[in-house]
Amino acid sequence: MNESQRIARRKDRMSNFIEYLDPVMSLPDRINQIFEDLGISAEQREGINAFLCPIKVKDSATYDHSLRVGLLSREIGRFVHFDQWALFYAGILHDVGKALTRVETLRQTDTWTPEDAEEIKAHVTDGHRLLRGYFDFSAEIILWHHRFQRGGYPEKLPEPLHGYSEGTMTMIPFYGRMLALADVYDALHRINAKFGPLTGEMIKEKMFLFNPDQEVLLGNLYDEGIFTTYTVPQS
Ligand SMILES: [Fe+2]
Ligand SMILES: [Fe+2]
Repeated sequence: MNESQRIARRKDRMSNFIEYLDPVMSLPDRINQIFEDLGISAEQREGINAFLCPIKVKDSATYDHSLRVGLLSREIGRFVHFDQWALFYAGILHDVGKALTRVETLRQTDTWTPEDAEEIKAHVTDGHRLLRGYFDFSAEIILWHHRFQRGGYPEKLPEPLHGYSEGTMTMIPFYGRMLALADVYDALHRINAKFGPLTGEMIKEKMFLFNPDQEVLLGNLYDEGIFTTYTVPQS
């Protein structure tokens, strides 16, 4: 694929997404800023980027989604005074398993067939298998990012990678719950046959509708400006 085809493809995908981050700062710059703020080592940055590389090449929309979910998860972690490192790593790496999903399925904007939906489910355990042995704690957390939705998955979780304390075992699903909020919020900005285009207010309504157990936190996240109803005007 040449450069102009690449740009055309990117523009096409961008038109399928309602931007909500102020374009004054690019997404990669925002991530670099977080790397700096959290004091993430060069080796760890390289590790994160290496795991993201296959989805960056295969589907840049999924790649950008991963960066934004990393950014939002970190903000949520900071807001609730829990481990923002754990949430940033899990957020940015949550969909790495989609590197093994067919590109046609990733780019699907029509309604998914039951086969597509079944295929995509594998990305959670695929991601876990990819990350284990390098980012173990992120691997544990990402297992939970689709567990809280209706028809959540995977039904059966792999055995924990380590003998965690009871406290840590409690925190893993909690981090997964926070990550799921960031994931759904970003996903609702995607224009597809199921949703969209939605306004910021409509997205907010759906966030409350889909996450009734997190009503108080959601209200606080919107009050705090971590989630907003802002969308970048289309030029
Ligand atoms: Fe996912
Ligand atoms: Fe996601």
